[in-house]
Amino acid sequence: MKIHKTDCVLNEYTAEELNENQQDLLQKAHRICSDAYAPYSMFKVGASLVLKNGQIINGSNQENVAYPSGLCAERVAIFNAGANFPNQKIKQIAIVAHADFNLNKPVMPCGACRQAMIEYEQRQGEKIEVLLQGNKGNIFVSESVSNLLPYAFECEELKKS
Ligand code: THU
Repeated sequence: MKIHKTDCVLNEYTAEELNENQQDLLQKAHRICSDAYAPYSMFKVGASLVLKNGQIINGSNQENVAYPSGLCAERVAIFNAGANFPNQKIKQIAIVAHADFNLNKPVMPCGACRQAMIEYEQRQGEKIEVLLQGNKGNIFVSESVSNLLPYAFECEELKKS
């Protein structure tokens, strides 16, 4: 028998401990989050990412009365970047959540969003830093998406182009 084990490391910071770029990106995520379209869950998520050329791309969750037709904020943002700036690497993504209950701890991205984000990280061959915050409170920082998704689905055969 052999054990396979891995760590998921999250660094927790107060807002004041973050650098200016990180604080700016989080603010942008909070701004876009307020305009999320989430009339069914009342749970708003905002995602702002910054590209290598400095361009900011924002996304928020977009729900639909046919529930599975909606999409998470992270995928709205990352697919937008992939579609509009296919050759620009993504440096950082800030993800925040607002709810009408107290959310003073970060909300972790769902599995589907981690899978979508990891593909961009692998394609660009450079880590994407992930910043996570609730309504307010401390921020979790992951140095990469792969840190958040150990043992990710990868299939070299499917990647043949
Ligand atoms: N949601 C996101 O936008 N991102 C996630 O990572 C998890 C969940 C959205 C989907 C849905 O509109 C609402 O949050 C409640 O699940």
